[in-house]
Amino acid sequence: MPSQPASTDGNIYWSSRLAFILAATGSAVGLGNIWGFPYKAGENGGGAFVLIYLACVLAIGLPIMMSEILIGRHTRKNPIQAMERMAVQSGHSPRWRWVGLMGVGAGFLILSFYSVIGGWALAYVFRALSGDFAEITPTVANEVFNSLVGDPERSMAWHTLFMVAVVLVVSKGVNSGLERIIKWLMPTLFVILLVLVGIASVMGDYGAAVNYLFNPDFSKLNSEVVVAAMGQAFFSLSLGLGAIMMYGAYLPDHASVAKTSLAIVGADTAVALISGLAIFPLVFAIPEMTTAEGPSLVFKVLPQIFGKIEGGGFVSVMFFLLLVIAAITSAVSLLEPVVSWLVTQKGMARDRASHVAGFAIWFLGLGTVLSFSSWSDERLTIAPRIGDRIFVLVDGKNFFEIVEFLTFSLMLPLGGVMIAYFVGFIASMKATRRQLADSPRAVYSTWLFMVRNVAPILGVIILLNMLGILDSIFLWLGLS
Ligand code: PFF
Repeated sequence: MPSQPASTDGNIYWSSRLAFILAATGSAVGLGNIWGFPYKAGENGGGAFVLIYLACVLAIGLPIMMSEILIGRHTRKNPIQAMERMAVQSGHSPRWRWVGLMGVGAGFLILSFYSVIGGWALAYVFRALSGDFAEITPTVANEVFNSLVGDPERSMAWHTLFMVAVVLVVSKGVNSGLERIIKWLMPTLFVILLVLVGIASVMGDYGAAVNYLFNPDFSKLNSEVVVAAMGQAFFSLSLGLGAIMMYGAYLPDHASVAKTSLAIVGADTAVALISGLAIFPLVFAIPEMTTAEGPSLVFKVLPQIFGKIEGGGFVSVMFFLLLVIAAITSAVSLLEPVVSWLVTQKGMARDRASHVAGFAIWFLGLGTVLSFSSWSDERLTIAPRIGDRIFVLVDGKNFFEIVEFLTFSLMLPLGGVMIAYFVGFIASMKATRRQLADSPRAVYSTWLFMVRNVAPILGVIILLNMLGILDSIFLWLGLS
């Protein structure tokens, strides 16, 4: 055990840098990579989305990942206390804690729908186990999915099970609960994904998939694609809400922040791309399938593929098990900041805090459960008219889409802007330099340049998008 004093609410440090990398990768790699990335790429025109996504990961994701880790390690506190403490130390207002608070709110909202999708994956493990995917036709695959999500009781039951699992892990405490699980989970996950790509490349149209994902069609580029890619980058890397900051609080002093960030960002991006390469060859090989399936893509497409291959039953069990495992390790990191806040600010015991937060999030998740069934036609449009212009802020979204929009397009990028601005202009350079002391000076200056420039640019993009002006700019550029 390390000799340093306990950090945050009594937990100890990760036993090694590797343990931290595994945990942070466990947070980053999840439904966002395997379920989200392929369907978002498919909905947003493939290559153009992937290109913007990769640019966001490098130019925004990597510098903000380093920023979150260094704030966490510098203060060894949960995100709210961390922002407050570092701001005060640098002679600024304690109100910076609101960035941490917004993160707790974002974690709360994200986990509410994340658990529902995680529940679907859990249901599919059992479907796969019972051999239901053998020789499955496109019609039956559709029915299997629709009957699950269209039945609120069933969907709620799986959502409940998923949430119970997450609460159990979190209530045990970060160190004992997580480190033990993640150590063997992450490598298994990589191996299974690679096997899937292997199968897909033999069975499907690999060339078409590679072309679709990596040969951008710029006529598909518009403001929606840019905002979707940016939100997806934040979501996939677990950035903007303090989850990585929270884990950074447990990182040993001698570990390199820059190298560690690079490892996590690299692993997360690799898994997203590998998932795309596992899914699209088969999408292109089966005529009934389209790329723009939406949130059901993985769930409708893969069982058909598994049903057509030798040994598909076994592979499908493995795949959905993998998805559940990846989802749980991410969900745990979404719940952790909420629980840590209740423990440190509200004086609750960890057990009780996990149960209370878990229940509230579960309850909110019922809104998402119903969005795919009884409430699927309940849609909200917010389009105020100012002068002779109509600003479409929300265009006919259901409950799930509103929560997704609030978090992906607003809270995470906004959290990212604030964090970048904070390390770039508020935190003392002495403190940030000390956290990156083991990297060459050039790394520090590049990082500082990026965070100082990322913040205003990102801020402007979010604002323009909010006001519905980003669209007009794309039109004007002839890019829509
Ligand atoms: N990065 C996770 C995924 O890709 O599934 C989701 C996530 C976890 C987002 C933790 C944000 C977060 F703080």
